[in-house]
Amino acid sequence: MNAGTKAEIACVVGARPNFMKMAPVFDALRAHPHVQPRLIHTGQHYDAAMSRVFFDELGLPEPDVNLEVGSATHAIQTARILERFDALLEESPPQLVLVAGDVNSTVACALAAAKRMIPVGHVESGLRSHDRSMPEEINRIVTDQLSDFLFTPSLDAVENLAAEGIDRAKIHFVGNSMIDSLRKHLRAAQSRSTLERFGLSRARYAVVTLHRPSNVDDPDSLSAILEALRSLASRLPVVFPAHPRTAARMERLGSALAPGLIVCEPLGYLDFLALMDAARLVVTDSGGIQEETTALGVPCLTLRDNTERPITVLEGTNRLIGSDPAAIGPAAGEILALEPSDLDEAQGTPAPALWDGHAGERIATILAASVIPDRANDINAGFEKKSQAPV
Ligand code: UD1
Repeated sequence: MNAGTKAEIACVVGARPNFMKMAPVFDALRAHPHVQPRLIHTGQHYDAAMSRVFFDELGLPEPDVNLEVGSATHAIQTARILERFDALLEESPPQLVLVAGDVNSTVACALAAAKRMIPVGHVESGLRSHDRSMPEEINRIVTDQLSDFLFTPSLDAVENLAAEGIDRAKIHFVGNSMIDSLRKHLRAAQSRSTLERFGLSRARYAVVTLHRPSNVDDPDSLSAILEALRSLASRLPVVFPAHPRTAARMERLGSALAPGLIVCEPLGYLDFLALMDAARLVVTDSGGIQEETTALGVPCLTLRDNTERPITVLEGTNRLIGSDPAAIGPAAGEILALEPSDLDEAQGTPAPALWDGHAGERIATILAASVIPDRANDINAGFEKKSQAPV
């Protein structure tokens, strides 16, 4: 690298959960005088409510490039991203490609970069559900095998990677960058009038999100879930911002909703954060929401048989209730039976180690030192205190 030129890092985002994981890293990279992060959007998610609003609210700049791949089967979507991202790498190769999470965009871009011998960094590395029926698990395993910098949010993730034979020198336990976004924006979220708009009062409603194919693609399973939610809604209002996949399946079912069950469009980052923060409980099959509720101290019931985020059960507020929707009622009943003071106590529980709002800076420090090794010492100086996170 010539003096005066900046080392380019291509930061890839594609689907909704990528945006809040990448934003803090992108911000920290942008603050380095010798690094030039470029934002690449694959276009896996393209609706304003699934993409645009997150850029606006998280302060992400307009992407430098949008590959506009859109929706398709897994194979076609992954292939399109691979082809278009590879062409971009050929045209202007960065010094490093950074991917996040476990979506199709993550694995496709990691593969394109690895084949061109461009180093790959993976934010949220090492999570494992040990359930290969989930496409995300395949994406995680492959991406981690291809990565040169594996940034883990928790120590269980470090152990998962070591058990797969990955060299410990590549593994960096840095904490959870999605929780950086949460901590940065929580106050702004709380000051919005989200609850008023929905006619809700603090700790007197539940929030639901569901989008896993295993829950929503099978009409019988979706009907049973909706039945359980209608029953829950007879006890307290239930807000259900429906993912486009889920909304489409619900429309096909033509299922009658019920009083108290508020189904709405997907929400922006701040409104959804405000809703989660003040909820009595959350029912979900999302990965990220298991972590966000743990950071907020809000009880979470996860409608899955397994989780790639066991720390949210062991140290947080998450409970795996299995995939039978009949479990929702009794598990919610246990939470509703708690005194509000017990719930307040949960909100004071310390978050898992390094979920402290500084993961993005740690990642940026490590990457900057790798792409501009001759300047590593200067670059690290500003971050020394926050980077003390050995594996
Ligand atoms: C993807 C991720 C999943 C993540 C989820 C968050 C993979 C394998 N899965 O799942 O890990 O938790 O994003 O939302 O990458 N659609 C729209 N508008 C959009 C995006 C999608 O209408 O902006 C609809 C399309 O009908 C599409 C369907 O949603 O076919 C599914 O979208 P897709 O990106 O394939 O997967 P998700 O289910 O969103």
